[in-house]
Amino acid sequence: MTETKYWPAAERCTGLKEAAAALAEGGVVAFPTETVYGLGADARNTSAVRRIFIAKGRPSDNPLIVHLAHAEHVHRIVGSVNEIESILMAAFWPGPLTLVLPVREGAVSPLVTAGLDTVAVRVPAHDLARELIDACGCPLAAPSANRSGRPSPTLADHVMEDLNGRIDGVLDGGPTGVGLESTVVRVMEGRIHILRPGGVTSEQLREAAGGTAEIVITVNLPNSDAVAPEQETPRAPGMKYAHYAPKGDMLLVTGDFSGIAAAVQGKLAEAKQRHRRVAVLCCTEHAALYDADAVLEYGSRHSPEDAAHSLYSLLRECDELDIDYIVAEGYPETGIGTALMNRLRKAAGGNELTV
Ligand code: TXA
Ligand code: MG
Repeated sequence: MTETKYWPAAERCTGLKEAAAALAEGGVVAFPTETVYGLGADARNTSAVRRIFIAKGRPSDNPLIVHLAHAEHVHRIVGSVNEIESILMAAFWPGPLTLVLPVREGAVSPLVTAGLDTVAVRVPAHDLARELIDACGCPLAAPSANRSGRPSPTLADHVMEDLNGRIDGVLDGGPTGVGLESTVVRVMEGRIHILRPGGVTSEQLREAAGGTAEIVITVNLPNSDAVAPEQETPRAPGMKYAHYAPKGDMLLVTGDFSGIAAAVQGKLAEAKQRHRRVAVLCCTEHAALYDADAVLEYGSRHSPEDAAHSLYSLLRECDELDIDYIVAEGYPETGIGTALMNRLRKAAGGNELTV
């Protein structure tokens, strides 16, 4: 057991100073970003990075994202950047875009990259995160600050639930903005491959690339690990792990909003016969239509941003309420809706009904 220090948002200066000192000495500290809370350690320090994997219970073949305070620092850890990559950095950094780039040899611990010759890098759009990186003076390797298999944390409280006693501290910066992780991309042969959809949408990427690059989405394949290796599609190694799964079984209901409600009502009625405690995740407009042990609202159906912001909290709430079956409404797959549906599908383990 390690004593986990909690630095409240109101004590920002002390928190930053103490957290930075802990990181510089090889500690592991959770901090807010605009997407989700990250669990940081000095990316150059192998024993510090090892503590991240141990605290999370994360498989060591799943590489970490390195966080920098400034885009200009990218060359400290990256060997080369091509034209499309520079365009994306200029357009989206600071922000929820992670680029997979050739690693500069020896610049980060091999544990960070899981032995690959590439490193995932981003500059978070969160003052506290960037001030922390500046103050500790090291690039911070940071995966989401949850125990492996739990939803990513969007509040400091979530971090404490999962990691109290396992890490050196948590800097509270209030609720995170986007609520889902960054978009992970890799540029290869003039194409932008989206390895993980996230806070930056494919529409935004397309617009920024201004017709210079083709966008290839290589996620959401039902069985992406079964794709033939000669197909040469780069993957985010993390996508092969079961993530975000709530304790209860989950069914995702997709289709037009006008048709969803009847199908969800039917599934809830069936679930009542077979399950102890049933929850429904739905838009506010539909909440009054449903009969369940817990009716949990994403926010308006017109705002997939609100649903993205609240999803992980709602999944945690299902576990707290000891829910053993969840019926979840899906959203249209445009904008942030693509990332939202990717996480909902993972949580549902592929259990999906389209109406
Ligand atoms: O928003 C986020 O990205 C958050 C915050 C804390 O920044 N971080 C996050 O980290 O979600 P993590 O470790 O949970 O997810 C990192 C993803 C994984 O899917 C991993 O496989 C992929 O990035 N990744 C890391 N390095 C890679 C590499 N060299 N090549 C391909 N994928 C990589
Ligand atoms: Mg994660």
